[in-house]
Amino acid sequence: KTYKPCDLVIYGGLGDLSTRKLIISLYRLEKAGLIEKDTRIIAVDRHEKETSEFVEIANNSLRTFLNESIDEELWQRFSARLSYLKIDLTQMDEYQRLHEVLTPETNVLVNYFAVSPMLFKSICQGLQQSEVLNAESRIVMEKPIGHDLKSSQEINDVVANVFNEDQVFRIDHYLGKETVLNLLALRFANSFFTTNWDHNTIDHIQITVAEEVGIEGRWEYFDQTGQLRDMLQNHLLQILTFVAMEPPVNLEAQSIHSEKIKVLKALRPITESNVEQTTVRGQYTQGFQKATPVPGYLEEDGANTESKTESFVAVRVDIDNWRWAGVPFYLRSGKRMNYKRTEIVVYFKQLPHNIFKESFRHLPPNKLIIHLQPNEAIEIEMLNKVPGIDGDIKLQKTKLDLSFSEAFKENKLFGGYEKLILEALRGNPTLFLSREEIEQAWTWVDSIQNAWKKTNDEPRPYPAGTWGPIASDSLLARDGRAWEG
Ligand code: BG6
Repeated sequence: KTYKPCDLVIYGGLGDLSTRKLIISLYRLEKAGLIEKDTRIIAVDRHEKETSEFVEIANNSLRTFLNESIDEELWQRFSARLSYLKIDLTQMDEYQRLHEVLTPETNVLVNYFAVSPMLFKSICQGLQQSEVLNAESRIVMEKPIGHDLKSSQEINDVVANVFNEDQVFRIDHYLGKETVLNLLALRFANSFFTTNWDHNTIDHIQITVAEEVGIEGRWEYFDQTGQLRDMLQNHLLQILTFVAMEPPVNLEAQSIHSEKIKVLKALRPITESNVEQTTVRGQYTQGFQKATPVPGYLEEDGANTESKTESFVAVRVDIDNWRWAGVPFYLRSGKRMNYKRTEIVVYFKQLPHNIFKESFRHLPPNKLIIHLQPNEAIEIEMLNKVPGIDGDIKLQKTKLDLSFSEAFKENKLFGGYEKLILEALRGNPTLFLSREEIEQAWTWVDSIQNAWKKTNDEPRPYPAGTWGPIASDSLLARDGRAWEG
């Protein structure tokens, strides 16, 4: 599908997000032939630089982060789109400079806010006062959109003063991941799953987003944020809404957003009285990852050695609606865990009666395991008869196994950012978050944060390179269950 060419302006063009992710993703889109011919990429930052210097920075990013050699012809085409503009984002008069580079007669203005939310207000005002906006203009906003409901509402209000909701594209890069999107196909294109997806057949669901990385030099941001706000409020809850929502009427943004909001509204609040039974906070201590020693959270560079911020969180989530009554969702996410693994495990109910007692005293439940990253795959664990002519029927656990890279050999798997940047350029809001969704997610996360505060909950230590504190296992053991793997 073609789209109108864009002037993509990246505020914070020299920052981490831009140079580590956005430039690389745009180059990959170029390689796939998905950037319209006259689209231009304009990096805006406060440092004095020539475009040629920025082009050099972009080239360095590709050499550092691309994991493939740079195609010279492609690079020439790509770099011709790049330009640099110095604007101090806090100085209103400097936004006038945008007029020197924008081409409003032909191109749609897409403003990518790759800066701290503290600057969102000035950017919105600067854009408005410099009169560069029109009804087609869009903004793309990165998380964190606030650190609680109130601050998120403030940011959304500031933006709403200048932009209509349909011009605002709030990114959660997990929604661009192939396997997260595949949840829609899996659930709503296969009768097998549409009919077996509720409290009648499912016992419980686990969602794990385990990270190998630690704080990666982001101490200041992370210590004020913690894993609950950094990962669970957004990425894990987004995965949860895709797993739990009712079938949307169609794939339009409105239809999907409204189903996701219904799930978020049905999340049972966590309070002072149930927080200890439903949540676990952890903080890593020194340990080993792949046999290499790594420092603890409190020993990281620039650490506040008294910090009580969690680098791990596990929560039992109950969704109070018809479909999920009595089916807990267990969510966990941590930094410096054993290895990177994002997966959803659906445990089906045990059968009411077992006629194979000789083989299995208790028949193990069927499991659907969706590996989101790395190594995208779907597995179904089931029982089969071991072949043999003699004796009783003997059962064995076996797997139906579908690896994406095997099944779709011809199709390249793109990362989340590529997909979402492309959709933002196209102006398709389906995979972005609505204001209501974000605020609903904060309402629930605030309930946890408040309950922790009231109970003075301290994070429990876990050695780096493990699967989190023991209390995380107890969270499931209390319900007679265990984490997958
Ligand atoms: C970001 C978080 O949103 O997601 C980071 O701020 C985290 O702390 C990252 O490491 C994880 O993303 P991915 O795509 O590597 O799973």
